[in-house]
Amino acid sequence: MATWSNLNLQNSASPLMEQMIFFHDHTLIILIMITTLVSYLMMNLFFNKYINRFLLEGQMIELIWTILPAFTLIFIALPSLRLLYLLDELNNPLITLKSIGHQWYWSYEYSDFYNIEFDSYMINSNNLKNNEFRLLDVDNRIILPMNNQIRIMVTSTDVIHSWTIPSLGVKIDANPGRLNQTNFFINRPGMFFGQCSEICGANHSFMPIVIESISIKNFINWINNYS
Ligand code: CUA
Repeated sequence: MATWSNLNLQNSASPLMEQMIFFHDHTLIILIMITTLVSYLMMNLFFNKYINRFLLEGQMIELIWTILPAFTLIFIALPSLRLLYLLDELNNPLITLKSIGHQWYWSYEYSDFYNIEFDSYMINSNNLKNNEFRLLDVDNRIILPMNNQIRIMVTSTDVIHSWTIPSLGVKIDANPGRLNQTNFFINRPGMFFGQCSEICGANHSFMPIVIESISIKNFINWINNYS
């Protein structure tokens, strides 16, 4: 989860988020190289004394500095497209979770079983226990099995919300009258936190998302004992 003064991405808890972090680092390296080269050239332009009154054009150098940036962009575009299509690919999800945005809380439905459904409200700071996270914990957490493909369907009943969990690489809008789909795969047990990320009104900041990732055995247990 996010901690104080962290400027980096959170650690990934899914293979696709790992790929996205790799892509981010790769692109950042290219950006740093360009910025360094351009600032070096600009400094030089300001401080040197090479002056040529008759220099108006140079076909070869203009050709090079037109083609070079276009060529560089390919190294960003191709991995980006690969990731884009990879993120949308869904094969054989084990379960489907439906997530509905409301002003200002989320509600969830596990329609694969005896239609389990519940609301998930943020825990007010006044009622916080010692092991809970302020402004980030909820009364009813999402329970999901780790190491399994999970499909999530997202919609809303009022305004646009956004179901976002950084460590899993999920960010999908919840639109009223629409049903959006995405998927993820949690590769370890633990708690994963997220928040709404579409400005949805006065309490936008107070509709967090919590996933509790557990083993499939314990998940089946949870399903069986759900009342
Ligand atoms: Cu819901 Cu912001």
